[in-house]
Amino acid sequence: MSESAPIRSDDLDGVIVGETAISDVQGQTGLLSYRGFAITELVDVPYLHVVWMVLFGEWPDEQQKSKLKQFMVRHTKLNHAEIDLLQQVGRDLHPMLMLQGMVPLLQIPDDRMLGVDDDAEHGLFIAAKITGLIAAHYRLSQSKVIMTPVPGKLFHENFLQMFHGTLPTPEQRHMLDAAQILQMEHSFNAGTFAGRVCASTLAPIQSSISASIGTLFGKLHGGADQAALEMAMEIGSPDKADAYVKECLANKVKIMGMGHREYKTVDPRAKILKPMAVELCQDEESKRLLATLIAVEEACQREFGAKGKEIWANVEFYKGAVFHSLGIPTHFFTAMFAMARVYGYVAHYLEFKKNSRLIRPRAEYVGHPAGSRDRTAA
Ligand code: ACO
Repeated sequence: MSESAPIRSDDLDGVIVGETAISDVQGQTGLLSYRGFAITELVDVPYLHVVWMVLFGEWPDEQQKSKLKQFMVRHTKLNHAEIDLLQQVGRDLHPMLMLQGMVPLLQIPDDRMLGVDDDAEHGLFIAAKITGLIAAHYRLSQSKVIMTPVPGKLFHENFLQMFHGTLPTPEQRHMLDAAQILQMEHSFNAGTFAGRVCASTLAPIQSSISASIGTLFGKLHGGADQAALEMAMEIGSPDKADAYVKECLANKVKIMGMGHREYKTVDPRAKILKPMAVELCQDEESKRLLATLIAVEEACQREFGAKGKEIWANVEFYKGAVFHSLGIPTHFFTAMFAMARVYGYVAHYLEFKKNSRLIRPRAEYVGHPAGSRDRTAA
């Protein structure tokens, strides 16, 4: 019997490796929807309601809304054992490495509160802890006391207060809700796919989320948020953007925050984040950074256009300006991304485990032929 010819794709570009009903990325037209809702319709919906929709495909009822809110406050607060563990971690360890290491060490409680599948509750528990861990890691790095969430406050109101020590304005909280909703879910991106591979071995949800976080960290993926704003800081001012872009392209250096594997037009998330950045960036430094980013985007479009190519800003490009204006340091940007994307990871874990088979591709062997080497020199 003859074997069918193997399909070869080193980067899985364009290869469909499974089905999902969680989000739809339409790269040619630049549309993104979660559970059938365009993201433009979701950015103003209360944050935890979008979380519920992404996880379960329906809006929460009144009881579920109230329970979820209480659950998230309860578990965002770190207990003594978690604080002790975090204190063992280097204060200047990158927050993404801290998260990847801490997630599998969290002790999942036995009691249940939400009346959902155990893995869903475990996933939401981890998501809440990630929020608490990010705020606490920052506070420890600043030699400040760790703060606790306050029942009754909105999710990101609590987060920003636990991070900075002061209550955010309603506008700041609203901007953070919107930015985090925009990056909550994105189909089979590298981090989610890594989590699905991990889940396919029947590893527990902590392992799957940790694998996803490790994958998100790289600069070609989530880490581009930190890299894009640091690039703008390094360039310094809009008048230097053109020369910077030309030099990068001449040396085949990638411009962070530009380009996307799926979007062949403007990333729908960048379209929403850019005006938000314009609204939020009011002080002189933020305005200069934003003007520099805009100048980089324009220079890229000129340079790529001259070569007959179209490369657009992705979600990472303007998000950094939004986070910067919220007082988040650049090295915490990707952890903030993980804090939102974790709900997507959980949704995929739940979806995938319903009907999963081990993910195991093949490789083309290009080494020495078996039996062709001399072992007497061993
Ligand atoms: N800077 C310079 N050139 C670029 C960029 C960029 N940011 N993006 C694409 N190109 C060029 C490539 O060099 C390539 O040129 P070539 O045809 O002469 O070889 C061409 O455009 C096609 O791009 P690919 O590399 O094939 O695009 P690919 O799908 O492999 O990569 C990626 C997509 C990794 C996102 C790429 O655009 C990139 O590295 N961008 C910068 C990093 C980044 O912003 N990542 C975040 C993505 S969003 C997210 O993950 C949440």
